[in-house]
Amino acid sequence: MVVTVGAQEAMLLVLRALIRSTDDLLAVADPCYVGITGAARLLDVETVPVPEGHDGLRLQQLRAACRAARHAGRRIRLCYVAPDFSNPGGNRMPRHQRERLLELAEAEDFLILEDNVYGFTAAPGDELPPLKALDRNRRVIHLGTFAKVCFPGARIGYVVADQTVRTADGGSTLLAGQLARLKSMVTVNTPPLSQAVIGGMLLEHGGSLANRCRALSATYRRNLALLLDGLDRLAKAGLPPGVEWSRPAGGLFVRMRLSIPVDDALLARSADSYGVLWTPMAHFHLGPGGNDMLRLSCSYLTPEQIRTGVLRLGEFLHGEIRR
Ligand SMILES: Cc1ncc(COP(=O)(O)O)c(C=O)c1O
Repeated sequence: MVVTVGAQEAMLLVLRALIRSTDDLLAVADPCYVGITGAARLLDVETVPVPEGHDGLRLQQLRAACRAARHAGRRIRLCYVAPDFSNPGGNRMPRHQRERLLELAEAEDFLILEDNVYGFTAAPGDELPPLKALDRNRRVIHLGTFAKVCFPGARIGYVVADQTVRTADGGSTLLAGQLARLKSMVTVNTPPLSQAVIGGMLLEHGGSLANRCRALSATYRRNLALLLDGLDRLAKAGLPPGVEWSRPAGGLFVRMRLSIPVDDALLARSADSYGVLWTPMAHFHLGPGGNDMLRLSCSYLTPEQIRTGVLRLGEFLHGEIRR
């Protein structure tokens, strides 16, 4: 395991270590977390979008992408996936889909980069094993962050990488060792001050990340329930036609579809005139898509802030969508 400057650094290091040729491709869920697509852009790594449905990556399309790449003399080297309450989709892969994805990785010979940032928000008893826990053949590189469980902007993350890789001198090492070597060329060390704060928070919870997660998970689930209840109340009072939204079972995000184009100009009006912020979904799509959708977020907010936000959102919807 390597401790990194946030999950973002882990993504950069993994891409740099594994994608060694322009024939190596990165498959990503579409829509996708912008951190991984940004890292790929920075490192000139070509991405292949694979649609994501309510039960996660569309595996048939991933298989077809692998075969198309091979046909063109290239290969999908790595597939980025957030199986638990993805950002921005809020989708979750059922267990049998996780097993099928691992089988596909074996059959088509690619590695999986599992981003497990939101798995801990599952309700007690409803947790699913991360891909890494089901991984029998070291196909999965697992990354996480303390940003969502300790404090936002913590910029402390980690990557678990137990794959054996070849070194330049013909020897072999664990991928984690290779990542640590690359890290020494980028951020050298992970800031000790931030690590000390995270360490202190873990000590307050008996040295257990799981204990810390449990406390925070309840807060996040309360927030998501408050947001969804608030939206239901708006609907009961009457909303313009065509407004609909997702009902994720965890995570921090709700996707909302409107019957009008959703872009940065609309966001600026929403912020200026109604005092409520959200993100246009189009920013998360690799191709066209998401142009009539926005992403609501309810992470570190108080119940009062959520109530106010929902009321303002209602005013925004009524004010901007003509009947
Ligand atoms: C899916 C996902 N991965 C990674 C991160 C970033 O983690 P960090 O702040 O540790 O770089 C985020 C933050 O929003 C995220 O939503």
